[in-house]
Amino acid sequence: MNGYSELISSIEESRTMAISSLVKKLQSEGKNVLSFSAGEPDFPTPEFIKQAAIKAINENFTRYTANEGYAPLINAIIQKFAKENNLEFKPQNILVSAGAKHSIYNLIMALCNPGDEVIFQSPYWVSYPEMVKLAQSTPVIIDAEVEQEYKVSPAQLEKVITPKTKIFLFNTPSNPTGSVYSKEEILALAEVLKNKEHIYIVSDEIYEKIVFDGEEHFSIGSIDYLKDRTITINGVSKAYAMTGWRIGYAAGDAGIIKLARNLQSHSTSNAASISQAAALAALTQESDEIEDMIKKFKERRDFIYEALNKVKGVKCPLPKGAFYVFYDVSSYYGTKVNGYNINDSSSFCNYLLTEESVGLVPGVAFGNDKCVRMSYACSFEDLTDGLERITRALSKLN
Ligand SMILES: Cc1ncc(COP(=O)(O)O)c(C=O)c1O
Repeated sequence: MNGYSELISSIEESRTMAISSLVKKLQSEGKNVLSFSAGEPDFPTPEFIKQAAIKAINENFTRYTANEGYAPLINAIIQKFAKENNLEFKPQNILVSAGAKHSIYNLIMALCNPGDEVIFQSPYWVSYPEMVKLAQSTPVIIDAEVEQEYKVSPAQLEKVITPKTKIFLFNTPSNPTGSVYSKEEILALAEVLKNKEHIYIVSDEIYEKIVFDGEEHFSIGSIDYLKDRTITINGVSKAYAMTGWRIGYAAGDAGIIKLARNLQSHSTSNAASISQAAALAALTQESDEIEDMIKKFKERRDFIYEALNKVKGVKCPLPKGAFYVFYDVSSYYGTKVNGYNINDSSSFCNYLLTEESVGLVPGVAFGNDKCVRMSYACSFEDLTDGLERITRALSKLN
């Protein structure tokens, strides 16, 4: 007994961040580690956004802003939702936070009472279960398998709803799988939620802009009968290569947003003023750089998907968005080589990291121990080299 908080002691460190730190440590020791663990674009932030931040500094936009966010940014967010997502909001419906992670945390805390249930799917984004536990609530997880392209069916959702369900936490395009729910699939899930007035929907749309093959992102909150119960989360991290700037936002019912604002006012106050000025430029200025970035992601996605599907024993559905491939390697479980026993996603990743210096994230971090996640937010050269190393390592397993 050390007397520390039992609640915080029950929370695990973010495994994706832990792996990134380990890879960085190995690299600093001089090892030629190829890391495919990053959850962020490898491109620099576009120049026009950086210039907006520099201007903000030069103009001394360096003080606290309003707790909920700088008014022009809030207006830009309202315009963005109206133009791109068919969502109508007023300033009181918006909260700007230090990243979408912070927005989701604030919202879960604002909605949940101890003992409430929060439904989401596995594979899930690493932080969802821990955030739910921090709200003293219970994660209720639906397994979405590789055979269903990692997407939950309406019947699966229906089955886990109880009177204690408080939130359906929904993420499309998805991290870690890259799956994108179509409009029809979302409408079918919405139908299940239609008469369940006690359930809020928190819709994490942070990868919205990174979709391929003509897929169109659809916001569940634009469905008329769900709009009052949906809180839509987005941010600038992924679409504008701005992970380090830490700007995310939430939009929904003014009463809930007010609670989230209050919570934020006693923890971090406002998101950084300079980052808000940069986010304003990102949301309001047209630029080809974003389209170029998405085009490059697609080329890499095509390459990695094709190459992986040639590797014996690997099952990889075609990801339609984000910048990850999430593939099933469980056919290698039970194999051995050089003292390595491969029996789960952690031992698989450990083998690849120590033998071939390739950093992947074990699927167990996302609630699916049969798979691993590989980010393709890196150069073609690294992808080609990484694929060679992976193929070589797997060919030794038997
Ligand atoms: C699904 C998902 N949601 C939210 C976030 C948080 O993004 P940020 O806090 O950088 O805005 C991430 C980041 O990895 C993510 O993958």
